[in-house]
Amino acid sequence: MKNITTSYDGLFSFYYKYVIKKIIKIGNLNKETRILDFGCGTKQLEKILLSKNIINYDIDSKYSEVKDYENYKYDIIVINQVFMYMDSHEIEKFITKEKNKNKNCKLVVAVSKHNFFVKILKKLFFQKKISFVKSNFDQQLSLIKKLTNIEKSDSLFSNLKIYLLSFK
Ligand SMILES: C[S@@+](CC[C@H](N)C(=O)[O-])C[C@H]1O[C@@H](n2cnc3c(N)ncnc32)[C@H](O)[C@@H]1O
Repeated sequence: MKNITTSYDGLFSFYYKYVIKKIIKIGNLNKETRILDFGCGTKQLEKILLSKNIINYDIDSKYSEVKDYENYKYDIIVINQVFMYMDSHEIEKFITKEKNKNKNCKLVVAVSKHNFFVKILKKLFFQKKISFVKSNFDQQLSLIKKLTNIEKSDSLFSNLKIYLLSFK
């Protein structure tokens, strides 16, 4: 599997940690909140929140703490820059399944615009290919609006949007 997990080392660690802090704020997350960190990568949310109530799941077994998150209970799902690696069909299926499991569950979703500026930065500093991105910002936002209610939103520069969502 290609490594598509955010690197929290070096120049941009401050930026990525700032994003996590915004996620914690918008979701009003604390140590008691039962959280599914979907696409957890290197588990930065757990490291910053210092919580034992986080289920860290990632499609990449190198990062995932659980094989399957289906049997766990959680009050909120954090999805930080993961939907872009899923196509529209996969995103819709995921949201619908979670709604059917627990309609009261909330979502905090961070969506990157992956605009021209970011592409240049990634090429310059990370040498990362981003050709495996499966859905763009507009596709993700249109599904978010179709399937959920936006309760709160925040943004970081013009590049990243963070939403607190409830199911429709
Ligand atoms: C850009 S990283 C973000 C990691 C983490 N959310 C963070 O904030 O640092 C994207 C992560 O999503 C994971 N991922 C991609 N597709 C996924 C899927 N369908 N289900 C679960 N995780 C997925 C990748 O393995 C990767 O660790």
